[in-house]
Amino acid sequence: MTLTITDVTPAIGAEIAGVDLSRLSDAAFAAIEHAWHRRAFVLVRGQRLSDDDLLAFSRRLGELDPPPNQEKGRMSPPGYPDIYVVSNVLDAKGEPIGALGAGEAVWHTDMSYLDAPPDASMLYALELPPTGGDTWFCAMQAAFAEMPEALNARIRGRRIKHDGTYNSGGYLRQGVTATDDPHQAPGAWHPAVCVHPATGVPALYLGRRRNSYIEGYTRAESDALLDALWAHATQPQFTYAHRWQVGDLVLWDNRTTMHRRDPFDSTARRVMHRTQIKGSAKPVAYAA
Ligand SMILES: [Fe+2]
Repeated sequence: MTLTITDVTPAIGAEIAGVDLSRLSDAAFAAIEHAWHRRAFVLVRGQRLSDDDLLAFSRRLGELDPPPNQEKGRMSPPGYPDIYVVSNVLDAKGEPIGALGAGEAVWHTDMSYLDAPPDASMLYALELPPTGGDTWFCAMQAAFAEMPEALNARIRGRRIKHDGTYNSGGYLRQGVTATDDPHQAPGAWHPAVCVHPATGVPALYLGRRRNSYIEGYTRAESDALLDALWAHATQPQFTYAHRWQVGDLVLWDNRTTMHRRDPFDSTARRVMHRTQIKGSAKPVAYAA
């Protein structure tokens, strides 16, 4: 097999073909890692991965991170605590086998409410609904590169509070008290513009909209500025909607992307297995 790399859109994504992720040479892994850093997400179609294969590939990228605490806690297949199930499927007792249900998941960066958010997350598609459930990615490096100077000037040198109260499905995380006050909410402060540790390329770093707050402004000023930043970053030229096929693996760079999910028919089955790579460092501010 010959490894090929094709841009998914001009702004974001690399599709890698000609590889079997369960039997990956060091050279092929290096090519994937390089593309992941530079193109923000990597898509590899047509894989047949066991949970052990998924874990082995994930470990080549860094230290595994336990699944995030979701509305029902941490949801993993039996015997695989480092794999996190994203699914709307119910078990024989009527309990969900995974997180996020069938609703929309709003734009977010995974777990940016931590001081050192995960470097990467990946999803592997096992069962899919006939329509809906597309996963969207947003190119935060391109969004920063093309940001109007007036907007740039208003966030230069500032930090943003990233909320840990709600997950991307809008559910309250287990063990957290509901609040819509960014100053009371659990979370972390990060620079509004961060540099990638491997490439030095700057990216806008927004995390998620709910309970977000930009330091040094009133809540109303911060909300208006955040609305303008979000409207800019999520324009069509910076986003890509991934229509899944069974056997797709998508690995994203959590430092330079946001993602969201379309809702789908709750009577259809969707099962994804997901892993996450621990944050290797705190986000570093871009010094313009
Ligand atoms: Fe996510």
